[in-house]
Amino acid sequence: MRIVLLGPPGAGKGTQAVMLEERLGYIHLSTGDILRSNVKKGTEIGNKAKSFMEKGELVSDDIVIEMMISEIRSLDKSKSFMLDGFPRTVYQASKLDEALSKVSMPLDMVVYFKTSEETLMFRLTGRRICRECGANYHAVNMPPKKEGVCDKCGGELYQRKDDKPETIKKRLTVFDSQTKDLIAYYRDKGILVEVSGDLGADEVYEKLFGIINDRDKDRS
Ligand code: AP5
Repeated sequence: MRIVLLGPPGAGKGTQAVMLEERLGYIHLSTGDILRSNVKKGTEIGNKAKSFMEKGELVSDDIVIEMMISEIRSLDKSKSFMLDGFPRTVYQASKLDEALSKVSMPLDMVVYFKTSEETLMFRLTGRRICRECGANYHAVNMPPKKEGVCDKCGGELYQRKDDKPETIKKRLTVFDSQTKDLIAYYRDKGILVEVSGDLGADEVYEKLFGIINDRDKDRS
């Protein structure tokens, strides 16, 4: 199964991807995580991406497309994978289609997490992440047992620079102006499914799991 997780910042793409990874063994490729790791290591990609990410703008298509297509090419073709945060423009989507069709691995499904702006703001302003293992928390919805400390590894929790209210607003505007067109793009291809991102994480997962199972049955 090859899936794209599509939705505005804070819709829960990363949270669901981690659940699918842990429970079904799907490979999770997150553009944001790969870019942040490049920024941390100070690579050429990271240095080019840093200021765009901090401002809440998209990193240029060329950088992201090359980076993600080389990640996808390196995957074991028999494994299921999820793309989280890619594509984000129609141009990126067309290049992804081109690359996947060359290796006869078309996408099976694109899941759009439709989520209200109120939910997105609440989730992003409260998100906390572990510096060591990357585990995701929410100050109110999914708090750690001890404030500021990761339950899984004891690492320090921090707030992403782009999770400040002004930058969140910018990211939401960028989603509306540059990414939302992908909904129609994939609906026209007949592979778009919609799930409410406003539900709790377990409810979203149940719905997603049901959709994946149905799609699996259709394929076999
Ligand atoms: P990226 O890291 O991809 O950020 P994003 O798309 O803005 O998505 P988020 O990680 O903020 O949200 P999410 O939907 O994964 O939500 P999460 O599960 O964490 O990208 C960052 C930047 O990189 C971009 O701004 C851009 O600059 C660059 N970039 C990335 N991809 C690019 C591309 N293709 N092209 C160009 N540039 C690119 O959840 C959020 C919070 O809510 C968490 O605290 C979580 O615990 C909580 N939560 C999640 N689900 C639920 C739920 N159902 N109920 C209650 N709480 C929940």
